[in-house]
Amino acid sequence: MSSSKSFYATTPIFYVNDAPHIGHAYTEVAADVLTRWHRQRGESAFLLTGTDEHGEKILRTAAANKVSPKEWADKLVTESWLPLLETIDVKNQDFIRTTEPRHEKNVQVFLQHLYDTGFIYQGDFEGNYCVGCEEYKTMADLIDGEGDFDGQKVCAIHTRPVEKLKETNYFFKLSEFEQPLLDYYAANPRFVQPESAKNEVVSFVRRGLEDLSISRSKEKFDWGIDIPWDSSHITYVWFDALLNYITAIGYGEDTAEAKAKFESLWPASVQIVGKDILRFHAVIWPAMLLAAGLTPPNQVFGHGWLLVGGEKMSKSKLTGIAPSQITDTFGSDAFRYYFMKAIAFGSDGSFSWEDLSARYQSELANGFGNLASRTIAMIHRYFDGVLPAASQHTEADLQVARVAAEAVAKADQAIDDLAIQDAIAAVWTLVDELNNYITVQEPWALAKDEANRERLATVLNTAAEGIRALTVLLAPITPKACATLWSALGQGSLGDLADQKLSQAGVWGQLKAGAAIGVLEPLFPRIETEAK
Ligand code: MSP
Repeated sequence: MSSSKSFYATTPIFYVNDAPHIGHAYTEVAADVLTRWHRQRGESAFLLTGTDEHGEKILRTAAANKVSPKEWADKLVTESWLPLLETIDVKNQDFIRTTEPRHEKNVQVFLQHLYDTGFIYQGDFEGNYCVGCEEYKTMADLIDGEGDFDGQKVCAIHTRPVEKLKETNYFFKLSEFEQPLLDYYAANPRFVQPESAKNEVVSFVRRGLEDLSISRSKEKFDWGIDIPWDSSHITYVWFDALLNYITAIGYGEDTAEAKAKFESLWPASVQIVGKDILRFHAVIWPAMLLAAGLTPPNQVFGHGWLLVGGEKMSKSKLTGIAPSQITDTFGSDAFRYYFMKAIAFGSDGSFSWEDLSARYQSELANGFGNLASRTIAMIHRYFDGVLPAASQHTEADLQVARVAAEAVAKADQAIDDLAIQDAIAAVWTLVDELNNYITVQEPWALAKDEANRERLATVLNTAAEGIRALTVLLAPITPKACATLWSALGQGSLGDLADQKLSQAGVWGQLKAGAAIGVLEPLFPRIETEAK
């Protein structure tokens, strides 16, 4: 099994009736960068994303729009969620919707299994429910309301009153998993990351777990998956949603093909979530899996929030920014680069147009784009667009090769640690080294004297080799620019960019001398309009 094991990354499935904003896009991009990185290593790699389509909130919005909830969800998936992936250039292998038969059917298989094995029982429940969060709240989760809600307790996230619900429900025996979970965290210290998130999860579990209500009576609303042994109840939307990670890859299916797929992908390598939903993923989800006799994922990573004006950006607070507002001006590569580079993955980060614009200009346009353009332009000017061969290497040339090899090793390690920002910083040591190399070697000065012809060839060959390494390293982050650059620089020597092994990127002398080099348009053109 291990030889056929794929890298498998997931994003949360997003509430279908929210408008996609840069917070959702941030999670998607991070998961996509990691998956592309693994694929560039030569591994098989699978990215799953999708939409969460059941629950009272969706039912209410659909009703307000006078359509059925399924029609409403279909429209939003087609008009908003699938286009989002195009906008930010995410290359997912699958997109799961919780209204699909492959999901609904196998959620029931899972529930029935837990019911049959005694992990689900019937009981009475009374609690404060926040429809915004689709979650029961404890008193500690509530704050005093203000304005219209003065004198009432409101949800701390949505600042709206909670509803008192009293129902006879089915319960999952979450309390039985307190010790097994603590043991699991101890035995798998990288299961919850980053470290700060892990500590929070461990202390939460240590404070004790209560059983979890996992059904809702249909008397109230019926937009969800029927409890298989009691059709007067539907499944709690989170219990339903979490299972997408396994129903998408064949859980519950009997065919040999589905079983093989499940075996090759589960347990997931990394499940990326925002820290707002870390508890669901680091406590409830592994408990569900343990109850079903399945292995929890290798890692759950809770990233930070994008803040706008110091607050968590969200649609309900009207601070949401649509990703296309950024990509229309700066392009998808800049979007991807900016959010991965400017914010340490795992920490909160503030978005600002000024910062985006400044980094676009200095890091992408001047740092990387210009380096590629001028190197290729000089190969055209001095060698008629044919890559010259290197001869005698000087210490400066060897230093470029050393920096490249180190950048590859450091970036690769950083990706394993999910330190995406550090990986990019490691790659940028090569961008800086190459820019410095060209400034010091002054190929334009060498070109003035025919006696320096060999040296000029070596310098441009070295710069081209460095850019080749950069293209492979940056392909997961800025795929469009790298595809363009590769077709100018590497295609003639080495074939497809997708076939270049990341681990080999720092190996020198791969480009073929004598290969024709294409013409390169600016990778990150000047933005003429004022930023915004
Ligand atoms: N449907 C549930 C998830 C179910 S997963 C089994 C849900 N959906 S959501 O649409 O609200 O998406 C929440 C996720 O969106 C966060 O966990 C995070 O990944 C992303 N983000 C939403 N707002 C964000 C920010 N302001 N900043 C960073 N990420 C944000 O919860």
